[in-house]
Amino acid sequence: MKAERQRLDKFLANNVADFSRALAQRAIRRGWVAVNGEPCRDAARHIEPGDDVRLDDQPVVAVGTRYLMLNKPLDYVCTQKDSHHPSVFELLPESWRDHLHIAGRLDADTTGLVLITTDGDWSHRITSPNHAKAKRYHVTLAEPLSDADADTLRNGVELRNEKNATRPAELILIDPTHCQLAIREGKYHQVRRMFAAVGNKVVELHRDAIGSIQLDAGLAPGAWRELSVSERTL
Ligand code: URA
Repeated sequence: MKAERQRLDKFLANNVADFSRALAQRAIRRGWVAVNGEPCRDAARHIEPGDDVRLDDQPVVAVGTRYLMLNKPLDYVCTQKDSHHPSVFELLPESWRDHLHIAGRLDADTTGLVLITTDGDWSHRITSPNHAKAKRYHVTLAEPLSDADADTLRNGVELRNEKNATRPAELILIDPTHCQLAIREGKYHQVRRMFAAVGNKVVELHRDAIGSIQLDAGLAPGAWRELSVSERTL
């Protein structure tokens, strides 16, 4: 996103997590904000790209291009709005929400790794079948999975209302009702439909990796963090 000239109160509301325009104006009035080393009490002052803005002595960085991982909790949706469920966007700073979109949605009843970015090209590289990033899921099943069914899923299975069978997948059985599955495509409800195709049922589904990006073990449900530069190059 290109940096642009904007009022100081707007700049703060856009770039400080959980800051509204009113909170920004209050902080400015109280003298908590400095621009280029000088305290600034003028909310209407225009901030140019490159200006050094500090709140409580901490630098405020323009939203710019964001790359985030979030641990999606159960029952949250990956759309901006839903009348029945909370949205993962509500877990992110309000001023960022309009700029962000999700690279590979999860169902409301799936938990785990969601990548969120302002960078449309990057998001496309992750989700496009041509780039075929592996998405790895931890799956809990209602019924034990036979070796024969595990092989069927590995080799490709026909899904209802789909022309082509699924692409080869990696499946590791942990015990008869738990497995790890990595797929390189993202058909609608794909994992649940794959297990339904062999007469089983997914009771819990958790995504823990996309390409080389792994969900942090210590990131609590609902928490997020920025990706490192090396993670972004996945
Ligand atoms: N496959 C599913 O069935 N659901 C998800 O949320 C992700 C993959």
